[in-house]
Amino acid sequence: MTLSMEGVFWCCMRTLEWDDAKRQLKLIDQRALPARLAYVACQTPGDVAAAILNMTVRGAPAIGVAAAFGLALSALSVEDADLVEQRARLRQDAALLLAARPTAVNLRWAVERVMRVAEDWAGKTGGLGALVLAEAKRMAEEDVAVNRRMAEYGASLISDGDTIIHHCNTGALAAVDWGTALGAIRMAVEQGKRVHVLVDETRPRLQGARLTAWELSQYGIPYEIITDNAAGHFLRSGEVSRVLFGADRVAANGDVANKIGTYMLSLAARAKDVPVICVAPTSSIDPGTPSGAEIPIEERPMDEVLCLEINGEPVVPAGARARNPAFDVTPHELISAIVTEAGIAYPPFDQSLKNLLQQAGKIA
Ligand code: MRU
Repeated sequence: MTLSMEGVFWCCMRTLEWDDAKRQLKLIDQRALPARLAYVACQTPGDVAAAILNMTVRGAPAIGVAAAFGLALSALSVEDADLVEQRARLRQDAALLLAARPTAVNLRWAVERVMRVAEDWAGKTGGLGALVLAEAKRMAEEDVAVNRRMAEYGASLISDGDTIIHHCNTGALAAVDWGTALGAIRMAVEQGKRVHVLVDETRPRLQGARLTAWELSQYGIPYEIITDNAAGHFLRSGEVSRVLFGADRVAANGDVANKIGTYMLSLAARAKDVPVICVAPTSSIDPGTPSGAEIPIEERPMDEVLCLEINGEPVVPAGARARNPAFDVTPHELISAIVTEAGIAYPPFDQSLKNLLQQAGKIA
């Protein structure tokens, strides 16, 4: 169900919000931006899984928290059933949510965290629905706090006068609020630094041109949109001082899976000695994945690539086929720093990421 939000100022709202009165999850419909600010209401775990799959909600942290609320909807739907049936339903819906998108590890992280809480529950006090909902709400609040902290660390790597190439959308829309790389840029500007952003349009779904540009205009941060294949030109010209992006999954060795095009951008940046900074919460780090080679890369429908029109006419010949990997892997050798809410990791990442995760109590 689409809820119109005409006239509501976006900065007062979050990417996703739980509505207690209606027992539903409200998501900003990211497919409609920047033309329209509209919400979609999810009343079942299936609604949430569909919203993740069709990219109503997207961005690694946002889909993780959305899935947590999907499990809350699942638990609330079987409140009157016995514990065995409740857990069976939760496991079934967890599998449905997990299958929605494979690359962002935040989805698995969030589902596993909620399932641990549900499986540990002895069924003595309160209801499972209330318990799972409370955990999802906690995760949403934590996401905002984590992103804010990460933004502060990230801003420390941004200098007054920087021109930054930014890839995809990593802002508030990619999380509950603030976001990752764009959060760091926003924080740097709030600290009084003058920053100019070159926004990669990010083919084929144009998260940069549609969402990042929209967020930057809301924040009043100067930007210009560039085609993805112009990045090398601007890096070579010497006017770019930083490249910033987020991550859908960081392997134990520091290889980063992120939106398609990140690898080519990083290669060009490294060739010109421009620092390549990845900003990602520890929930995006997967110590169980040794390197980028083991990260599953989502293949999306070829229509996303083929649907181009110029002057109202299709660009590609009838019957053309396309390949559409949604992500690529940037090898750790190309990355200068990985910023998390627990601090900044520098090469060699296999050791520095491990240290960060240990200090944050995320691994033994
Ligand atoms: O396909 P999307 O729009 O979900 O991809 C999002 C990205 O690639 C982001 O850069 C990534 O999630 C990290 S920022 C939160």
